[in-house]
Amino acid sequence: MALQVLPINSIFGAEISNIDLAQPATAETREQLNKLFAEHAVLVFRNQYLEPAQFVETGRIFGELMEQQVKQFILPDHPLVGINSTRDLPRKNGKLQVRGENYHTDHSNYLEPPKATSLLAVEIPSYGGDTQFVDVRKAYDDLSDNMKKKIATLRSKHIYESSRSPRSFAKLTAEEHAAIPNVIQPIVIKHPISARPALYMNTGRMEGIEGMEPEDGFALIDQLYKHATQSKYEYRHQWRVGDLVIWDNRSVMHQANADYDPEEYRYLYRIMLKGQQLEPAFT
Ligand SMILES: [Fe+2]
Repeated sequence: MALQVLPINSIFGAEISNIDLAQPATAETREQLNKLFAEHAVLVFRNQYLEPAQFVETGRIFGELMEQQVKQFILPDHPLVGINSTRDLPRKNGKLQVRGENYHTDHSNYLEPPKATSLLAVEIPSYGGDTQFVDVRKAYDDLSDNMKKKIATLRSKHIYESSRSPRSFAKLTAEEHAAIPNVIQPIVIKHPISARPALYMNTGRMEGIEGMEPEDGFALIDQLYKHATQSKYEYRHQWRVGDLVIWDNRSVMHQANADYDPEEYRYLYRIMLKGQQLEPAFT
């Protein structure tokens, strides 16, 4: 059975059908999926009602799994599988405090940030809770030549929680916190496979720009962030039960939405794939 590939929009993303991820993938299919992933950056598979172990095997098509950072949100029998459940979320004034609101790339404060993250929808509320993606390769391409020159070799320190973070992060145990590094990342990275330049941003974790006054650094981050998160760079995924979505953290940013009824149940499995140290696009 040949895979069917339906591009999601003219920039990025593809819906892949004619595949049952509960079955082991052939070497040929694995190769094809990896090629599609490198090109489209977000792959959507519908109607995949996988057990956690099958979800792990699907992740292995694309790379090696990495451990989940926050140990309180994992499946006890499958520690590589994180859980994203409304029942675990704190509330403030009746509103759920959803992890991942505001655009970001996962664990950008790691020396080797995850190459990919994948979610599998187990229970979905009747409305809301979409995940949005923006293509930061295309956003980079569209910058003016002046801006490209200005940011070509700039770098930013990424820490667990920026002093200007628009969102708050899960509180960690002292042990978890001690294990989390701070790292200097390029603002423009070179994709490890395609070599395409891309903006590498995470306003929750970026602590200014190296060599710039804090106000100037944060102002530039805001400017780039506003540019990169325009709706023309966006794909908004409306979840259905059985959806498996995998995205490339070096090519897109993503954000969660807390716009669903907090009394309804929303439950997804999450896995992450090991990445590598990021190289600047320009030196
Ligand atoms: Fe995230």
